[in-house]
Amino acid sequence: MVKIYYYKEDDSPMTAPHDSGEPVAAEELEKLGVFYKYIDSQASVDNLATERQYKNRDYITLDGATFPGGEEALNAKLDVFFNEHIHEDEEIRYIIDGTGYFDVRDNNDRWVRTLVEKYDLLILPAGIYHRFTLTDDKFVKALRLFKDEPKWVALNRIDGNTESNEFRKEYFASLSS
Ligand code: LAC
Ligand code: NI
Repeated sequence: MVKIYYYKEDDSPMTAPHDSGEPVAAEELEKLGVFYKYIDSQASVDNLATERQYKNRDYITLDGATFPGGEEALNAKLDVFFNEHIHEDEEIRYIIDGTGYFDVRDNNDRWVRTLVEKYDLLILPAGIYHRFTLTDDKFVKALRLFKDEPKWVALNRIDGNTESNEFRKEYFASLSS
């Protein structure tokens, strides 16, 4: 079951909890356009995929023991995932096993951390600033759903051109309406 809280900046690794002790209500996440649902059957996931017209899917496993190139390659991948970024499409993840952290920016640019585990489905809207990492357990297996063809492109905030992105602007406008 998810746990949602404000992220605390400190020197611990990104996979540490970084729990500020300040919880965030699920409704707050909703206001940011994030959809969360606990779904304990694959059939229900399939129904949701049909309802929302998600046409594509794949599975991803992040595990130091099986990742091509081993632990070091996995860590390099995690560094990429932890760059603050947006996409021009929804990011949809259904956790099949293991755990992970999704961090999203709230209206005040504070990081909100969501701990996801088995049976958690999370949908991040296009244009929301976010990043992902594993927990200290360093293992997750997830189903990735896509509206159409997978759109992998991550536009990193640090590159400085995300604010002028149409999908970012549209998302930002949706927050104030
Ligand atoms: C992704 C996660 C890392 O874009 O946000 O796959
Ligand atoms: Ni992403």
